[in-house]
Parts: sequence; C-alpha cells; structure tokens
Amino acid sequence: MLSLDVKIPGKEYKIHIGNKLFNEADVLLKPFVENKKVCIISDTNVFPLYGEGMENAVKKAGGDVFSLVVTAGEEAKSFKNLEYLCREIISRNFTRSDVIIALGGGVVGDLTAFCASVVLRGVTLIQCPTTLLSQVDSSVGGKTAVNIPEGKNLVGTFYQPKMVLIDTDTLTTLPPREVACGMAEVIKYGAIRDKQLAEALLKGEFKAEEVIKTCCSIKASIVENDELDKGERMLLNFGHTLGHAVENYTGYGTYSHGAAVAIGMCTITAWSERMGYTEKGTYDTIKALCEKYSLPTHIDNLENMTGAAMHDKKRSGSRISIVLVKKMGESYYEKVDVSLLSEIAKG
Ligand SMILES: NC(=O)c1ccc[n+]([C@@H]2O[C@H](COP(=O)([O-])OP(=O)(O)OC[C@H]3O[C@@H](n4cnc5c(N)ncnc54)[C@H](O)[C@@H]3O)[C@@H](O)[C@H]2O)c1
Ligand SMILES: [Zn+2]
Repeated sequence: MLSLDVKIPGKEYKIHIGNKLFNEADVLLKPFVENKKVCIISDTNVFPLYGEGMENAVKKAGGDVFSLVVTAGEEAKSFKNLEYLCREIISRNFTRSDVIIALGGGVVGDLTAFCASVVLRGVTLIQCPTTLLSQVDSSVGGKTAVNIPEGKNLVGTFYQPKMVLIDTDTLTTLPPREVACGMAEVIKYGAIRDKQLAEALLKGEFKAEEVIKTCCSIKASIVENDELDKGERMLLNFGHTLGHAVENYTGYGTYSHGAAVAIGMCTITAWSERMGYTEKGTYDTIKALCEKYSLPTHIDNLENMTGAAMHDKKRSGSRISIVLVKKMGESYYEKVDVSLLSEIAKG
C-alpha cells in the first residue's frame, strides 16, 4: 500500500492506494466509522460489484451501515438526487458526527461530496473512487457539484474528504473507454508537471499504484497552494477549454471527457508550438502519448465548436484563462481575449 498526505491547513487527509485495498478497508475505516452511522452512496454499476464488500468492511470496523444507490450516469449529478440523498440520510437520524462514503466514479464522488457538505451543514466524508479518472483527479481536492440545465458543475461547494481509499483492483472491471478517459488526465499531469511520468508512460511503463500516487501528489500539491481555484489550480484545466467545446458541440457522451481533453491538449499544443510558446517536439510527444492510450488527437472543425466554450464558467469578462505547456513537465496559464480561442482551435 502507498500513502500520501494532502496538507491543506486545518483540513489534512491521507490518500491510501493499493490493490485489494478494499479487502483491508476495515482497518483504515475504523478510526472514522466505529460506533457511527455510515451511509455508503454508490451507483447501479458499482454497487453490485463492490457494495457488499464495502458494507462488510464498515461492519467489521464497528459502523452501523446502510447504502443508497443512484442510477449510474452523469444525470445522477442532479438536485433531485441531492434532495433524495439528504432526505434518506436525515430520516435515518443521522448526526453531524456520522459518516458518508462515496463509492464510485467521479459522478458519485461529486454528488456524494456535495451531499456530505450540506446535509446537517457538513458530515465526515470518505472517498472511495473506482474509476481511473476519479482516482487520479476528482476524489482529491474537494470540488463537489451537481449539474443544472444551464451547464455542468455550475452548483457546488469546496469540501475536503477526511480520507481517500483507492483500490486499484477496481480498474479491472472498468470498461476500456473509461480507462482511456482517465488516461487523458494522467497524460495531462505528465504534460503540466512531470516529464518523468510522461517518459515512463511513453515507454508503456504503467504501474497503477505508482502512477496514481504520482498523479495524486501533483494534484495535492496544486490544491495545497490554491484550494479555491483562484490561480495555480487552473493548470489542471490544460486541454479542458477546447475539450469542453468538443463535449458541448458534439453532445455530452459522444466523446468521453478524456477523449475531448486529449483533442484539446493536442490542439492547443500544436498552436502554441507553432506560435513559438512551446518547445519544439512537445506536440509530437503529447500526440504520441494520446495515441498510445487509445485517445483521439484531432477533430475537424474545432474552431466552429468554440462558440459554446465562450459560455465556459472559467471565462471572466471577455478574457479567458488558457493553459500552455512550455515543454514537457512545465506549464503556465495566461489570460487571453476570448476571441483567440477560435484561432487556437485551428491547432
Ligand atoms: N470534483 C472534481 O474535481 C472533478 C474533476 C474531474 C471530473 N469530475 C467529474 O467526474 C465525473 C466523471 O467521473 P467518471 O469519469 O469517473 O465517470 P462516472 O462516475 O460516470 O463513471 C464512469 C462509468 O463507469 C462506471 N464505473 C465506475 N467504476 C467502475 C468500476 N470499477 N467497474 C465498472 N464500472 C465502473 C460508472 O457506473 C459509470 O457508468 C464528471 O461528472 C466530472 O464533472 C470532477
Ligand atoms: Zn478533466
């Protein structure tokens, strides 16, 4: 098992990563759940696979457990589900010292964390992410959200978990499309912060525990400096503004989030290299990485898709923050006029 600390002052927590980690989860859970009511929140794909195991671990650790399961899919991140979860939890006489466990991908993680942050004005939250994306990205850092018709992730809170438990064995049941989706975020970390990670990935060296730990450490260090997303945390949006344009224009789900981000990372780097902002060869490296992990690198007519991105919540006034990679492992962000986006989209 590998462990690391997230050191946000006053909100420190540990991330534990290992294969078969859920089997020994009772030991790690005990300090949090003993003699507590514990609500596991999961979805209809994940609960049949890992729900019973997690319930048993909580029982073994001395917790009084019940589970709530929402229908899998992005639509689960809704006010309707938030209300459902809060009411179920309250009706079971939960108190502020009780515990909520998120067992699932980023959808379950975001919804559950939002619920944990508002029910009874905040109860203990433990994240047990089961997709590669949620293990390397969404379970760490404390962003919570639901979606509204006006857009994704527009309503939420910042709320840190008390612990993150990552069982890499859960990746064995994950559909290949979801694995590729998470790999886009892994490649992102290599591009923005860690040349060695990128080089290892390029050689096909992928030891899940180590890669996930590296990604979590990068995310943790960024979040420690900028919990509330006012500066450095923007680096995590590398490839995302164009990626959101692809997702929006083609209809969410046509391209996975990771596939759209891969196109975004390649396209903006092709542009920045052409403009002389990025070391030559960087585009080829990012493209090769995306290809190696079954991600697309290009989409026709991206410049026509950027209109939708103008509504991106990261835009402030007519300026928009873009993230550029200087060379593999080094990145920066800059505010540019929103109209530049359609130029960048040409690659
Ligand atoms: N909070 C953050 O900082 C942050 C960061 C990035 C993304 N997100 C959010 O994360 C969400 C996407 O997360 P995701 O990609 O994990 O999607 P997801 O939660 O929808 O999971 C993808 C699919 O895989 C299934 N699944 C999950 N784990 C499984 C397993 N081990 N075996 C088999 N099937 C499994 C799920 O039921 C779902 O059908 C989006 O809503 C996005 O906005 C949040
Ligand atoms: Zn992302």
